[in-house]
Amino acid sequence: MALKAHKAILPRPFVGKTLAMIFTKNSTRTRVSFEAGMAKFGGHALYLHDAALQIGRKEPIADTARVLSRMVDAVMIRNDSQADQEELARYSSVPVINGLSDLHHPCQLLADLQTWIEHRGPVAGKVAAWIGDGNNVCHSWIEAARLLGFTLRIACPKGFEPDSTLLTQAGSAVELTGSATLAANAADIVITDTWTSMGQEQETGRRIAAFASFTVNAGLMALAKPDALFQHCLPAHRGEEVTAEVIDGPQSVVWDEAENRLWGQMALLEFLLIA
Ligand code: CP
Ligand code: NVA
Repeated sequence: MALKAHKAILPRPFVGKTLAMIFTKNSTRTRVSFEAGMAKFGGHALYLHDAALQIGRKEPIADTARVLSRMVDAVMIRNDSQADQEELARYSSVPVINGLSDLHHPCQLLADLQTWIEHRGPVAGKVAAWIGDGNNVCHSWIEAARLLGFTLRIACPKGFEPDSTLLTQAGSAVELTGSATLAANAADIVITDTWTSMGQEQETGRRIAAFASFTVNAGLMALAKPDALFQHCLPAHRGEEVTAEVIDGPQSVVWDEAENRLWGQMALLEFLLIA
């Protein structure tokens, strides 16, 4: 938040520093926010798609980690395997940042929490309602609830619940229901995400059917507190997980949320490379 407040007079502590960004999946926000953030701090970001890397031709992740660590100051990776990310981190001697995996999307939560706090102040004791898929972003919300003292109510169709180990670890910070209306009732914030995450495209039809009663619409928002916020990590599918009326309406803070990917990750890079 301090970086955002002082954006006209940012320091350039990363002159000569490089962030390597490995992607095996598409991205707009994550790529651009890390790249722009490094540039604002005077550093450089390298966009590396796995198809153009030797990793895409089966060079071991451990070898890639050791080589990149000799050349760059930090690595960001977006892929579909949390285990591979952990392998990369194990063999890297520079910080490794999760830019989304099958299990987590922690950088998204930096932005989501910053946005919630900017608009409504401290989050401890409040109620967040997650409506939809128990996916990677939902998992990172579960971790946030466990760490920051708010309650997360999750409404998912049967068979699409979040990871059971994360739920157990979160204890009473998380409540699971099969009803979107129960979850949204008197909530301080309502959150959703795509019903079909990257890599699940072959399940789209089955998912659209299963999630039919989990659209965040004006009726659902009316059950939440009158000043409830709406968040979505984007990209959004109007008419599926959220109506245009809600995402483009007055309770939606999705553009601030997207912008805060930049500021939250710049703070993360400062923490990892300078602090
Ligand atoms: N929210 C998010 O991570 O967006 P991208 O997939 O565009 O990076
Ligand atoms: N759950 C989504 C988030 C995209 C930012 C996905 O994994 O595709």
